[in-house]
Amino acid sequence: MIKNSDILKNIPKTIILELKNNTIIECYGDKKNLSNLKNKKLQDIFKKRTYNLLKKLLNKKYNTTVITWDNKEYEVHLKNKILYFHDITQYSNVELQLKQSLTDLISKKEELQAVFDLAANGISILDRNGMFLYANKFFQNMMEYTMEELYKESCISLSAPEYAKPSQTAVQKAIQYGGIEKFKKICITKSGVHLNASMSLSYLESRDEILMITSDITEDIQYQDKLKKQVEIEVAKRSEQHEVMCHQSRLAAMGEMIDSIAHQWRQPLNSLGIIIQGLRHISTQKDIDVKFLKEIEVEIMEKVNYMSQTIDDFSMFFRISKQKEKFDVLKSIQDAIRLIDIQLKNNNIVFDINVDDNLDLNVLGFVNEFRQVVLNMIHNAMMAIVTSNQKSGKIEILIKSNRKNLHIEISDNGGGISKENMPKIFNPYFTTKDKGSGIGLYMSKVIIENHMDGLLAVKNKKDGAQFTIMLPQGK
Ligand SMILES: Nc1ncnc2c1ncn2[C@@H]1O[C@H](COP(=O)(O)OP(=O)(O)OP(=O)(O)O)[C@@H](O)[C@H]1O
Ligand SMILES: [Mg+2]
Repeated sequence: MIKNSDILKNIPKTIILELKNNTIIECYGDKKNLSNLKNKKLQDIFKKRTYNLLKKLLNKKYNTTVITWDNKEYEVHLKNKILYFHDITQYSNVELQLKQSLTDLISKKEELQAVFDLAANGISILDRNGMFLYANKFFQNMMEYTMEELYKESCISLSAPEYAKPSQTAVQKAIQYGGIEKFKKICITKSGVHLNASMSLSYLESRDEILMITSDITEDIQYQDKLKKQVEIEVAKRSEQHEVMCHQSRLAAMGEMIDSIAHQWRQPLNSLGIIIQGLRHISTQKDIDVKFLKEIEVEIMEKVNYMSQTIDDFSMFFRISKQKEKFDVLKSIQDAIRLIDIQLKNNNIVFDINVDDNLDLNVLGFVNEFRQVVLNMIHNAMMAIVTSNQKSGKIEILIKSNRKNLHIEISDNGGGISKENMPKIFNPYFTTKDKGSGIGLYMSKVIIENHMDGLLAVKNKKDGAQFTIMLPQGK
């Protein structure tokens, strides 16, 4: 049979003290050395403060009181001279933690509020229909509405008419997918100003509300527009400048060309002059030798044909290639040389072309422009040789292949390019010549690299410069 005392002993987390005249006559419960308390007075066991509390309870001043006893918290009740001590240590710990969490939460809320108020973006909370529930100061200022006024508005009603429907869809999508980012639209402020805005919406599921961040991107868009216009103007300016330079380079080349024509014609013109003088002498004779006249005619025609061929060569040279075509690199180099070979000879310059065996010399590109590049390179080499007073000038061209590229190396022994000038020679208008335009190499680079997808490089070798033209031979 279970005894009463056993039941009392085993009530969980409870200590029971039975009193008579303030003296403990019985004690039950789960506490170490509890039986030692028997026959002791309350004031002998508890500290003064605790004893006073218990005394007030015994005097019926309180119905219940809370005390600390051996590091534990107890809620104490009195009934029929029996004190019941319920151990509430655990609950009070939880209560403490809850209190702490609450303080933390309040401070977090304050922090968040400060962030909202200081944010340089509009932050607002919407209900599931897009109606405003809250908006930070920035949003209120941006839209020129007070919070009271905003309660009657929605993110849809503040949109420009053409954005009303997309805004509604954005709200629905945010609810459906949890959020949407950087939705761009035009909002209208209270005074009617149109703002370009970028909105990000995030659905707060537990509250069935939407957090909306709004950035005013009007200035960004205006800046972008301005930038775009500026770029357009710059591009137009550049292509205009480019055209002027193309024109200048053709004029410069034409100058060189007329120089060459003069050289090419000087010799046949001299011959023609001599023949004509001879003719005058023959015409004074009585018997004109018809056979001799025929011979003279042949010779005159030869000279005239040569001169006319020269003109043809030059006029062909000045035609602009309209579209890319397959051409033989060696042949177009020879065409270019033909225009300048008299000048090379006059300056005692030896010219040499070497081609690696079994080379495919065809490339796809603009043949006339390519010829112009080669002519400019040879002309530059010739001028370097002449100005460096090199008595036995030599220009060499070597054509070889490197994987899928054709390499054309043009070297001279004109002393090369100074370290200081080397980085500038491809710049437009850079020249070291009195009458140079400085466009030749710039245009050559544009033609080879931009128009023909190749590369134009330069280096000094032992006694002169070496230019290398690399052209792709995609088959
Ligand atoms: N083979 C070379 N050897 C030494 N210097 C060179 C050589 N080729 C070019 N240069 C240098 O590069 C400069 C620029 O050459 P570029 O062909 O662009 O213009 P330019 O020959 O001076 O004038 P233009 O070609 O318009 O008559 C030349 O003035 C010269 O100083
Ligand atoms: Mg030049």
